Amino acid sequence: MSDRVIIFDTTLRDGEQALAASLTVKEKLQIALALERLGVDVMEVGFPVSSPGDFKSVQTIAQTIKNSRVCALARALEKDIDAAAQALSVADQFRIHTFISTSTIHVESKLKRSFDDVLAMAVHAVKYARRFTDDVEFSCEDAGRTPIDNLCRMVEAAITAGARTINIPDTVGYTIPSEFGGIIQTLFNRVPNIDQAVISVHCHDDLGLSVANSITAVEMGARQVECTINGIGERAGNCSLEEIAMILSTRKGLLDLDCGINAKEIHRTSSLVSQLCNMPIQANKAIVGTNAFSHSSGIHQDGMLKAKNTYEIMTPESIGLNRNNLNMTSRSGRHVIKHRMEEMGYLVTDYDMDSLYDQFLKLADKKGQVFDYDLEALVFMESQAQDDDNYELQHMMVHSDSTEGVATATVRIVVDGEQRTEAATGNGPVDAAYNAIARATGRDINITSYKLGAKGEGQNALGQVDITAKYNGQNFHGVGLATDVVESSAQALIHVMNLTYRADKVADFKQQIHKNRELGGV
Ligand code: KIV
Ligand code: ZN
Repeated sequence: MSDRVIIFDTTLRDGEQALAASLTVKEKLQIALALERLGVDVMEVGFPVSSPGDFKSVQTIAQTIKNSRVCALARALEKDIDAAAQALSVADQFRIHTFISTSTIHVESKLKRSFDDVLAMAVHAVKYARRFTDDVEFSCEDAGRTPIDNLCRMVEAAITAGARTINIPDTVGYTIPSEFGGIIQTLFNRVPNIDQAVISVHCHDDLGLSVANSITAVEMGARQVECTINGIGERAGNCSLEEIAMILSTRKGLLDLDCGINAKEIHRTSSLVSQLCNMPIQANKAIVGTNAFSHSSGIHQDGMLKAKNTYEIMTPESIGLNRNNLNMTSRSGRHVIKHRMEEMGYLVTDYDMDSLYDQFLKLADKKGQVFDYDLEALVFMESQAQDDDNYELQHMMVHSDSTEGVATATVRIVVDGEQRTEAATGNGPVDAAYNAIARATGRDINITSYKLGAKGEGQNALGQVDITAKYNGQNFHGVGLATDVVESSAQALIHVMNLTYRADKVADFKQQIHKNRELGGV
């Protein structure tokens, strides 16, 4: 049996489907590029039949990614498989992942069919998907609660039909490690053609056991783990990629298994996913939480000073978290910034040096000292701006009388290339700024959540505002980062306005197509 574990990332499918606001195509592509650099073997990037937006993002990613296999999800239905194959066909090689439920609860209550019917559907779906690619994966949804005889029958039939990867999901995160490992072991013992497929696992974290279950399955012979960055996904989430990768490398002596993950990319990828998905990481999260490498008690600190391995089983540097002692101020030259970016794992092609340096100087003037997270924040904000942005905040002035509970804001905003200045009052500085922006843009945005956080440490931190807004039945996520939290709030609103403006343009375009069709045009 191979000693290589295939890492199948499903951040952009299982992870994305659990977000309050969908990612844009551009954001998905940004994450896909980070996953490629991280070294995932397969990335599942969407469910193309579910929406035109999902179809487009799968297609865009399939067109761009060259070093990881791109995969899309399809139910065991021809129309789903057609959509997946069509979206993926722009790639040289791709994987179709088709699935159907196999547990008695799902078969009877959800599918309302007999198990034999479901088995026939699965076989047909796998054969149908094989028309488009040799790389077909089949999943037995809710395998963790499927009677073992049925599971063995299903796995054997799917392999005979042509599936080259068989995925065993613990869809509801119900099993415990000995039980889940036992399922994998039984499949290896009882399914006669099991050696013709890679056995994969896909564990959810409802009982906090997804990583333990996945590693136990690997010990029993599974050679693909499905996982997500930061463990995001349905409900309590999926098995976390960074935990699996670091278990394999830290416990190599025990497990003697490898994977293709470039661990130095973990920190960067994790921050990007957290930021774009508006999913903060809990401080004590293994590997990527802010406390994962900090030592608090005196005894531990004393031990660390004597020998790092007293309390550190892996180093922060191993996941790309480099401690910086370079002092960056407005006197720092471009080469210092470039060098620091390189040390943080950024390539010169990841950002525009002129614009980054410009922003750096402005920030250094405001803050005095600039930190790594500031540079990362500047690059991130720059990546969010799009050439076709319709709104840009140029200037804002806010006066607040907190004893009276009134504030006044004046904003200058470029709207469609034209400068507009407006003033408004509000019950606080953010409220006043939002009222002034609404006046200047004429856009009415229904904000459903507003979150204020900090990027960085102590007084030097940047204020980060994440807002979610509902617009025409869809959720949008906007982010703002600045030294001043009122400015971050304004930036987050402008970000959402640009997203909704773009959504309107897409809707207009679709309407035009329908009109043309009605008129007998193309
Ligand atoms: O959790 C699950 O069962 C899934 C399948 C589609 C693989 O996400
Ligand atoms: Zn899942």
